[in-house]
Amino acid sequence: MTLEDAEKLDAADPLAFARARFRLPEGVIYLDGNSLGALPATAQAALVNTVEHQWGDDLITSWTKHDWIDWPTKIAAKLAPIVGAKPSELLIADSTSVCLFKLLAAAVQARPGRRTILSQERNFPTDLYVAHGLCEMVGLKLRTVAPSAVLDAIDDDTAVVSLTHVDYRGASSYDMRDINDAGHAQGALVLWDLSHSAGAVQLDLDGAGCDLAVGCGYKYLNGGPGAPAFLFVAERLQDELRSPLQGWMGHAEPFAFDDDFRPATGIGRFLTGTPSILALAALDAGLDTFEGIAMADVEAKSRALSQLFIDEVEARCGSEVRLASPRDPAIRASHVVFAYADGYAVMQALIARGVIGDFRAPDLMRFGFTPLYNGFADVFNAAQILADILGSRQWDQPRFRTRAKVT
Ligand SMILES: Cc1ncc(COP(=O)(O)O)c(C=O)c1O
Repeated sequence: MTLEDAEKLDAADPLAFARARFRLPEGVIYLDGNSLGALPATAQAALVNTVEHQWGDDLITSWTKHDWIDWPTKIAAKLAPIVGAKPSELLIADSTSVCLFKLLAAAVQARPGRRTILSQERNFPTDLYVAHGLCEMVGLKLRTVAPSAVLDAIDDDTAVVSLTHVDYRGASSYDMRDINDAGHAQGALVLWDLSHSAGAVQLDLDGAGCDLAVGCGYKYLNGGPGAPAFLFVAERLQDELRSPLQGWMGHAEPFAFDDDFRPATGIGRFLTGTPSILALAALDAGLDTFEGIAMADVEAKSRALSQLFIDEVEARCGSEVRLASPRDPAIRASHVVFAYADGYAVMQALIARGVIGDFRAPDLMRFGFTPLYNGFADVFNAAQILADILGSRQWDQPRFRTRAKVT
């Protein structure tokens, strides 16, 4: 592959037009959309409009005049084609950690007598911490097993299987259908964390028989730093499940101001408090970047980009770096990790040269490929810069070794 070949791929790319939907700084190759998506070109105006005209001019009347009260479901509906669910099964709310707590607690409550939450060793920490905290609170047991042992570990004591669909380190993914079927065969519910899947790979939550899911709004969905999360509850379960955080916004009639809680029908019962309108305005702009785009095209380009990166890095760096993502593209999602002992310093040197990825302890350099705005030439150039930094040991400087609070 030459740079000209990569440029030819960009010229033939059916998603190339989507790059104009983002504002990216000149000279930066942004390979961190798996942690914080780039700024949608319309986000700034959307926020200004919400602040100046809605909050500023229309004040409290905006809850009705601009439908603020319905934004958590209205904006969630834009996620439906991205994750393969019905609009009525999705809600924007809280953070991923809080959504996890709500749905895990609702699930264990719906499976009385079962004492186990089953998860994976080395799951994303928040998934384990939330499950552990809930177990301590209600007297359950958190069991974690290796990914390959999950299917066999599901039994009639399992209340809920809680897994991250795409691993945040290596990008390996589970077969949702297999896990859902195995969970259901044992009478368990299954909860998926889609933080590294939604907006990156093609999902069919309904088709795969999913029960429950949560995910981040600020990664591939481009909702901005600290964007609210989303949650999914299959329609068939909505009346059965109860949120453990039953706040007034999840009430059937919040403005009746009853002393007693009566859950709303449908997904609305999983709301807790007043939605964060400014954050929702930004997430709305993020979801609009997917308008008219087929997730099959996104997934195909994501695989092509990550494969090109792996091929180019391995061709240039040989055994100096070790691929720590699955080699099989069928089970690899949209990011790639290479292990290198001084990976932190190398990543800082890359950032200094305009190639932005991130680092996950102890030694993983992580590169996320966002098909809506990354191109083949970007990937080609990033691999070349990485090889140059490694070959010249440019990373071996004190300024690149100082660990920041966020890696
Ligand atoms: C798999 C996964 N779950 C959850 C989170 C974060 O959750 P929260 O939005 O509560 O910070 C992350 C963040 O990187 C993640 O990778």
